Amino acid sequence: MYELIALLSDGKFHSGSELGHRLELTRAGIWKRLQHVKLHHGLEILAVPGKGYKLTRPLHLLDRDQLAGIMSPWPVESVELTDSTNAVVLRRVARGDTPPFAVVAEQQSSGRGRRGRVWASPYGENIYYSLAVELTGGSHRLDGLSLTVGVAVAETLLSIGVSNVGLKWPNDVLLAGRKVAGILIELHGDPMDICTAIIGIGINVNMQVTEAVDQPWSSLRLQTGCLWDRTTIVMGLTKTLNACLAEHIQDGFGCSLRGRWEALHAWRDQPVSLISGIHIEEGIARGVDERGALLIEIDGVERAFSGGELSLRLKT
Ligand code: BTN
Repeated sequence: MYELIALLSDGKFHSGSELGHRLELTRAGIWKRLQHVKLHHGLEILAVPGKGYKLTRPLHLLDRDQLAGIMSPWPVESVELTDSTNAVVLRRVARGDTPPFAVVAEQQSSGRGRRGRVWASPYGENIYYSLAVELTGGSHRLDGLSLTVGVAVAETLLSIGVSNVGLKWPNDVLLAGRKVAGILIELHGDPMDICTAIIGIGINVNMQVTEAVDQPWSSLRLQTGCLWDRTTIVMGLTKTLNACLAEHIQDGFGCSLRGRWEALHAWRDQPVSLISGIHIEEGIARGVDERGALLIEIDGVERAFSGGELSLRLKT
């Protein structure tokens, strides 16, 4: 359906005969495909007799040729619809594909977030990016990895001129205090020895409405009012991610990455609650340590907290 959606992506009216001519299909064939686009890709299409069809919201689709043609530290393949780009990359690693490589999608039908959450993944609106990288040399390579990726995402957004970007421990990227991007790292292999990290990144780019998010969220579009070119962001992200990962692998999180994370820490010196199941710790968020654990000052003493099941809230 990519070609049909690409023709409609400008948000202008296109007649059935024009679309049929461009795609070498009958008008009935076009109509059938438009029904498919509505049903399976969730896109709203307006049909007006005498004018034709248009998308109610214009889209900026990923430019597959540009992504395939760029000089990039790893191949970035663009797919149209998949269950989850993390799942695609995990399957490819399991069948023996050699990292590094990345997959991006126009849409995910089962986008996954941290702690079993669903990640809203509408067609053509956001970035759904998964990268496989091999990590050798033991489990300490994983220390702070998700925070390093958070730095890469935040610095990518800053580099394209987005302001008011911050980081919330462990790896949420915030825009004006609301979540704009999330990171999900899954592992394949032996974490104590050689393993492959599947680094999944979701960035809300042009999404303006969704009922699938249950926390305060934002997007570049909502914050800036512009329709963003996602291909350019994917290319910038690849470059920044490559530089940050190279530094992480060589020097670990504890060197300059730690300072860069802290410089973007949105909740520094704020009263917070750290929740783990029924257990709650309350204190003042400080920095992070060299392994990426969050430092919270409780009764005048700084303590380090880490673990995937922890959830951090601002104390109101
Ligand atoms: C979070 O809950 O904050 C993490 C969200 C991670 C979403 C991304 S989108 C690309 C990749 N594929 C997935 O299914 N999830 C990650």
